[in-house]
Amino acid sequence: MKEFKNKVAVITGAASGIGLGIARRAAKEGMKVVLADIEKDALIQAEEEFKASGTEVISVLTDVSKAEAIENLAQKTIDAFGEVHLLCNNAGVAAPGPIWECTLKDWNWVMGVNLWGVIHGIRTFIPIMLQQDNDCHIVNTASSAGLVSGDPGNGIYSITKHGVVALSENLRASFGGMGSKISVSVLCPGFVNTNIINSERNRPAEFCGPDYEPCLERMIKKYPETEQFIKAFITSLEQGTSPDQAGDVVFEAMKNDIFYILTEIGLIWKRFIKARFDGIMEAFNQNRPILKSL
Ligand SMILES: NC(=O)c1ccc[n+]([C@@H]2O[C@H](COP(=O)([O-])OP(=O)(O)OC[C@H]3O[C@@H](n4cnc5c(N)ncnc54)[C@H](O)[C@@H]3O)[C@@H](O)[C@H]2O)c1
Repeated sequence: MKEFKNKVAVITGAASGIGLGIARRAAKEGMKVVLADIEKDALIQAEEEFKASGTEVISVLTDVSKAEAIENLAQKTIDAFGEVHLLCNNAGVAAPGPIWECTLKDWNWVMGVNLWGVIHGIRTFIPIMLQQDNDCHIVNTASSAGLVSGDPGNGIYSITKHGVVALSENLRASFGGMGSKISVSVLCPGFVNTNIINSERNRPAEFCGPDYEPCLERMIKKYPETEQFIKAFITSLEQGTSPDQAGDVVFEAMKNDIFYILTEIGLIWKRFIKARFDGIMEAFNQNRPILKSL
């Protein structure tokens, strides 16, 4: 999609960080904007910001992990603007800790938002887009952690983000095969200066329970040596790309029909990604003699 003016953008996780950055750029492009988020006060504040600048905007309180909430989001979008052209499945949360120690509630919360949120988004909105039969674009927010998987403290997050990358690749192939007018991109940010480290602020009570302790605190209490890595991670976020820049990157990438959208091209992520793929390619050499001998 190259023309955005007067088109309709739906953005989840739009009350903060990257989602807000994407929404701001959408408004600058002259789009009508639908803001969806679970954090009510931040959502209202964001809506006021857009109204004040003259953007046609609605906000819909949405928990993306619930199919019926996404169906409601789609209905409110159609009621307000009649169509939808850009869907950014962006809401996300993180729950650090060794994967075998994370509680089922940790797993269900993060899988619900990061993976099921995207699944509900595509299941609900793609049929609408197909019926419209006009140029549309879907941007799923994964992460650099969806391209590499070795961070021992960030397992559930990374697993969900790999799922989002795979889902997006699958969508792209399916649409390509159908000759569809829907384009797809997967956003894989590196470090963006957002509130992601405070994800637990939006953890619903159903995913807490009587023994609840925020994952980050729990991990640092049990493994005090991880605190220095967390501090370094926070510094990297603070020194990272701004959310508004991330929004700009997304729009420039859409205009240029780029599938894997990266917010940084620094060597650190490139090195990790190359190491992963080199390891997979090396497996051909390692396995060849075994397979030939059988
Ligand atoms: N910040 C980074 O460096 C970085 C790097 C890679 C990927 N990401 C991804 O970017 C996306 C946006 O995160 P961010 O960094 O802007 O963090 P953020 O915390 O600033 O924004 C996330 C937004 O998602 C919302 N949200 C949380 N749970 C929700 C739910 N159940 N339903 C609807 N909305 C919900 C939050 O209220 C918040 O407004 C996430 O998918 C995250 O995983 C971020």
